[in-house]
Amino acid sequence: MILFQSALKLLAVGFSSVASRHVNFYRKDYTYVDDFDAFYKLHWDTSGTDWSSTFLACDDEGAELFYPKIRDEWTVIKKLVKTMAHAPNVSDIFVGIHDKFGVGEFITINGSPTSAPILNLETSGEGRCVTLNIETGVLEANECLAQPGISRPFVCKKVEDVSCPTIEKGYRYFRETRKCYKVNNKEMNWSRAMETCFMEGGMLVVVESELEASIIRQKVLLDYNNNIYHAGFKKIFPNKEYYTVKGHQLSDTGYERWYSSNNEECGVIRDGNNDLLSSVKCDKKLPFVCEMNVSV
Ligand SMILES: *[C@@H]1O[C@H](CO)[C@@H](O)[C@H](O)[C@H]1NC(C)=O
Ligand SMILES: *[C@@H]1O[C@H](CO)[C@@H](O)[C@H](O)[C@H]1NC(C)=O
Repeated sequence: MILFQSALKLLAVGFSSVASRHVNFYRKDYTYVDDFDAFYKLHWDTSGTDWSSTFLACDDEGAELFYPKIRDEWTVIKKLVKTMAHAPNVSDIFVGIHDKFGVGEFITINGSPTSAPILNLETSGEGRCVTLNIETGVLEANECLAQPGISRPFVCKKVEDVSCPTIEKGYRYFRETRKCYKVNNKEMNWSRAMETCFMEGGMLVVVESELEASIIRQKVLLDYNNNIYHAGFKKIFPNKEYYTVKGHQLSDTGYERWYSSNNEECGVIRDGNNDLLSSVKCDKKLPFVCEMNVSV
C-alpha cells in the first residue's frame, strides 16, 4: 500500500513538472557546466535524509534529481564540491536512481534502466535508493531513509530542453548562438542548396560573430571531411557587395573574415582555416550548411 501511494505521488509530480516547464532556466543558484550542457545545483545543507524529499525538492525547482546520465558526469559533482568554501564532510549523496516501486530493478527517475554498475545490490528492505560516492563515482544501493546521523545532500540538474523546430533529422542546437545547424553532404549548386535548407524550414548558414565562426569550425563541421561548403551569402548585383540570405550586406553581419578574396558570386565557408568565408562560382556543386533560428 505504501509503495502504491508513493507511486501515485511520483506520478502526480510528473504531471506538475509539465506545467513548470517554462521556468527560468538561468536561475542564479544553478551552475552551468559546458561539458554536459546542463545546469547543476548542490543542495548541501545536509538536511536531506529522505530520498523522496530530495526528489520533490528538485521537482519544485523545475529540475530533476541528479544521476549520472553520461559516463563521468559524476565528476561535475566532485568539482563543484571542491569549489565550496565550507564543504561539509559528506561522502555520498542521493541520486535519481531507485527501486521504490519494488520491481526488483533499479530505474532512473526518468523511468529508464541504468547501465552503470550498482554495488550492494543484495541490500534488502522495502524500496531501495541509490547513492553516489562523490570521490569515486561508485553507485551503491542504500536505504531510502538515511540512518540517524548520516546526511545525504543531493544535486538538482536542469537540462535546457530546447529542440530544433523541425522534424528533419540532423539539426543540432547550439545554445551559444541559439541556432540549429545541419551539415548536408549532398553536393548541390548554391541555389539548390539554399532551396533545400528553405524546404526544411531554414536557410544557408550566415555567420554572424567570431563566436559563431568558432562554433561552426570547432563543433558543427567537426565530424565532416569536406573543407568547403555553400553558405548564406551571395552577390545579388554583379561586382557589388555580398548580401546575406537574411537581406543584410555581409559587412553588417558582425563577421567578415575572408580566406581569400577570389571575388566569385556565391558564398562559402571553408573548414580548417582561421578565416571562414570565401566564394565560388554559383554552379559549383558542394555540400552545404543550413541553419535555423530558435526563439526561446
Ligand atoms: C569525515 O567523515 C569520515 C567518516 O564519515 C571520518 O573518517 C573523517 O575523519 C571525517 N573528516 C573530517 C575532516 O571530519
Ligand atoms: C542548379 O542545379 C539545378 C538542378 O540541378 C539546375 O536546374 C540549375 O540550373 C542549377 N543552377 C545553377 C546556377 O547552376
